[in-house]
Amino acid sequence: MKLHVVSGKGGTGKTTIAAGLALALAAGGRQVLLTEVEARQGIAQLFDTPPLPYEERRVAVARGGGEVYALAIDPEQALLEYLEQFYNLRRAGSMLKKLGAIDFATTIAPGLRDVLLTGKVMEAATRERRGGGRLYDAVVLDAPPTGRIAKFLNVNTEVAALTRMGPVRNQANSVMTLLRSAKTVVHLVTVLEEMPVQETVDGIAELVATDLKPGAVIVNMVRDPLIPEERIGDAAAGSVDTDDIARGLKAAGLEGDPMTVNALAGEMTDHARRVLLERQELETLSALARPTYQVPYISDATELSGLQEIADRLQAAGMV
Ligand SMILES: Nc1ncnc2c1ncn2[C@@H]1O[C@H](COP(=O)(O)OP(=O)(O)OP(=O)(O)O)[C@@H](O)[C@H]1O
Ligand SMILES: [Mg+2]
Repeated sequence: MKLHVVSGKGGTGKTTIAAGLALALAAGGRQVLLTEVEARQGIAQLFDTPPLPYEERRVAVARGGGEVYALAIDPEQALLEYLEQFYNLRRAGSMLKKLGAIDFATTIAPGLRDVLLTGKVMEAATRERRGGGRLYDAVVLDAPPTGRIAKFLNVNTEVAALTRMGPVRNQANSVMTLLRSAKTVVHLVTVLEEMPVQETVDGIAELVATDLKPGAVIVNMVRDPLIPEERIGDAAAGSVDTDDIARGLKAAGLEGDPMTVNALAGEMTDHARRVLLERQELETLSALARPTYQVPYISDATELSGLQEIADRLQAAGMV
């Protein structure tokens, strides 16, 4: 069993890549669990299924018959399950709710909340199949963004401040053992822009500093340049052949008045500069010396076909 944690700056495609990775890992007949912990039902939305209850549901079948199950982990449910398991407190939920204990544990004490969430991930990841062996071959966690990931996974120190002994402490210890073991890797998703790349650089440093293992860097939504390679340098420097643009417009049956031609030349310069900036960001990422995989921008990233394409790319590139 392997636990793949997927983080990255907000909006870079964590949920999409986590789903693609889960499909890739399931290919060929394996059982994979895809989980989220932020109570946003992002997985259900992506796979177009009703909101996920607090129980695993099959959301996709991978190539070769493997299956992807999904679970939205909710801190309140995780706490109730936990109380039942460790203290045999059945139906204690409503009473605890009245006392405000649930709110305390799930919103006021963030360290406790995180250990409940990661504890549930661990429970699913290590669960045994009837008759022996792990139930899941891999677990993919659509995790909080880079800014919070090290703290989220570093439940040990968080909980140490709350309790020195008891089952919560023990739970935190075994969660930490799994998270720091060779079974867990933290992948970071980025796009080729300054801020997300900087967050990736900082995120890796922070993971290493907290004894967590950075995995791959996934460069998402990569687009090919729209202009030929040999023109990029000149265009970026502001030198664009306007006659050529005018001829192109004419050939396409469009009017090539000077204003349009100049505006298009400006677009070309902007585009060429962006291409060069993206290449710089790619260099910054390659200096990190982590396995790096590129995923192109695809128009159907919210469809199963798009997720399957991402899975195929990751597989072909050797990530799984
Ligand atoms: N490879 C891709 N090609 C095209 N669109 C993509 C790709 N990856 C993600 N997207 C789109 O980008 C948007 C953000 O993706 P996603 O929701 O996966 O990001 P996120 O990092 O999980 O966001 P959040 O931080 O809000 O959780 C979505 O509209 C998604 O469909
Ligand atoms: Mg998301």
